[in-house]
Amino acid sequence: MRHIWYRLLDLIIHNEVVPAVNQIETHPFNQQIESAKFMKENNVQIESWAPFAEGKNNLFQNEVLVSIAEKYNKSVAQAVLRWLTQREVVVIPKSVRKEKIIENFNIFDFELSQEDMESITTLDTKQSLFFSHRDPEMVKWIGTRKLDI
Ligand SMILES: NC(=O)c1ccc[n+]([C@@H]2O[C@H](COP(=O)([O-])OP(=O)(O)OC[C@H]3O[C@@H](n4cnc5c(N)ncnc54)[C@H](OP(=O)(O)O)[C@@H]3O)[C@@H](O)[C@H]2O)c1
Repeated sequence: MRHIWYRLLDLIIHNEVVPAVNQIETHPFNQQIESAKFMKENNVQIESWAPFAEGKNNLFQNEVLVSIAEKYNKSVAQAVLRWLTQREVVVIPKSVRKEKIIENFNIFDFELSQEDMESITTLDTKQSLFFSHRDPEMVKWIGTRKLDI
C-alpha cells in the first residue's frame, strides 16, 4: 500500500498544482483506512471508486450489511453510501435506473451508530477485488492505454 503513498507524495512535492482529489477503490471489502488517513494528512480528498464493489463478493447480499440496512429501514446500497459518507469519503454512485439514483441520494436522514460502523470495519480484507496497482504489467497496460476516438 505504501507504494501508492510514495507516488502521491511525488506528485504533491514536485508539482505546483497538486492533486485535490484521489479516486481509489474503496468499498466494504477494501476500505483503504490507512490510505484515507495519509491523504487527509496531505490535504487530498479521498473519493470512492466502485463504492458497491460493482456487486462483487455478493455485496448486496452480505449478511452484516443486510442486517445493518434492515435496522435503519434502508437498502444495503444506502447503508454503504452512508458508511462512506460518515468516513468522509466522497462518493458519486452510478446507476442507470432512476429509482436507484433517487435511492442513492436518500442517505442524509439517518446515521449509523459507532457499533455498526465498527461491524462494517470487520469486512475489510485490505485487498483489491479488481487488479493490483503493484503489478508492473498492469501499471504498464493502464499507463499506455490510448483513446480510440
Ligand atoms: N475514474 C475511472 O476510471 C472510473 C471508472 C469506472 C467507474 N468510475 C466511477 O466509479 C463510480 C461507480 O463505478 P461502478 O459503477 O463501476 O461501481 P459501483 O459503484 O460499485 O456500482 C456497481 C453497480 O451497482 C449498481 N447500483 C447502483 N446503485 C444501486 C442501488 N441503489 N442498489 C443496487 N444496485 C445499485 C449499478 O448498476 P445499475 O446501473 O444497473 O443500477 C452499478 O453499475 C462512478 O461514479 C463511476 O463514474 C470511475
